Amino acid sequence: RTFRIAAIPADGVGKEVVAAGRAVLDALAEDSGGAFAFRWEEFPWGCAYYERTGRMMDEDGLERLKDFDAVYFGAVGWPTVPDHISLWGLRLKICQSFDQWANVRPVHFLPGVQSPLRKADDTELDWVVVRENSEGEYAGLGGRNLSGRGQGGEVAVQSALFTEVGCERIMRFAFDLARTRAHKKVSSVTKSNAQQYGMVLWDDVFKRVALDYADVETESVLVDAMSAKFVLRPEDLSVVVASNLNADILSDLGSALAGSLGLAASANLNPERRFPSMFEPVHGSAPDIAGQGLANPIGAVGSAALMLEHFGLPDQAARLNKAIEATTAAGILTRDVGGTATTEDVTKALIDALDT
Ligand code: NAI
Ligand code: MG
Repeated sequence: RTFRIAAIPADGVGKEVVAAGRAVLDALAEDSGGAFAFRWEEFPWGCAYYERTGRMMDEDGLERLKDFDAVYFGAVGWPTVPDHISLWGLRLKICQSFDQWANVRPVHFLPGVQSPLRKADDTELDWVVVRENSEGEYAGLGGRNLSGRGQGGEVAVQSALFTEVGCERIMRFAFDLARTRAHKKVSSVTKSNAQQYGMVLWDDVFKRVALDYADVETESVLVDAMSAKFVLRPEDLSVVVASNLNADILSDLGSALAGSLGLAASANLNPERRFPSMFEPVHGSAPDIAGQGLANPIGAVGSAALMLEHFGLPDQAARLNKAIEATTAAGILTRDVGGTATTEDVTKALIDALDT
């Protein structure tokens, strides 16, 4: 079968890592002897597009995306455009319009990659951060009192939205995922000591949903304590479910602990499959290294593996993940993980490793 994929490389290293991911996926399809194929369409949206047209994406952009099997995304954001405009105009717009309410972010060690946590060889790190991706702190609710602007008296309100439906579906998603794993545990990240409405609802729903999953171990941890736990007791975690902002912060921490932000993969899922899901590395556009061949493509390629799983091709996803491990184990590493290989070197090595 042919899968139709919309590629949106967008900005900075997004362009380099999407090109890498496409090359690896095309090599995989070529190898399949026609069992499956990918048909790509690339969209030129992003900050450069905004500077030309005043829009981050076309007016009918969502309409054009909605019949694809998936969206393969790079990263959005460039210093010439305010970040809240670029993020809301493209990435958050797609996530919210296509009801991609579950953001799945696996974090694990890779062979040959140094981690600040890997003191002893037996330290384990194998988590999935499950991020609520439709509401919470990124609901976009609030406003600025512009009348006082420039006079030192301005006030801004940024509200978080928590609904019972929104909390329950992400928690059930986390519990269902935990059941498929060796370590059957869900850790809920909260801040209900200080945030006495939304986060208390979050906790209540977590306790209620947990009753339906007696076979899964649970804990509820304050986000500040959880950030310490990430560093001090990584082997104690399996599935970590958190609100939009908390999970955003914790997953960058998690990927840094695994070795680099450039390694981290993610899937923005519409679990009902009414709309396409979107697959993208966790990292941003990295203006500091963009255009120099320094970007680590592994986060983007790992995201492609999540896309293959979503397509119902788990064996191909596993093949891709094995190729990633073979490449890092062989010491073919970009600068962020201590090597000297270019994006292209790693991409070539990944393609060669598909055969092993
Ligand atoms: P960033 O993730 O782009 O970069 C943070 C650090 O990680 C930088 O030192 C960068 O060089 C490094 N890094 C990131 N990706 C890498 C890769 N593939 N290989 C090697 N090193 C890598 O975050 P930053 O600097 O805070 O944001 C830059 C821009 O990206 C901003 O405009 C921001 O809004 C946007 N952004 C977009 C995201 C998205 O599209 N999903 C997510 C995060 C940030
Ligand atoms: Mg982030």
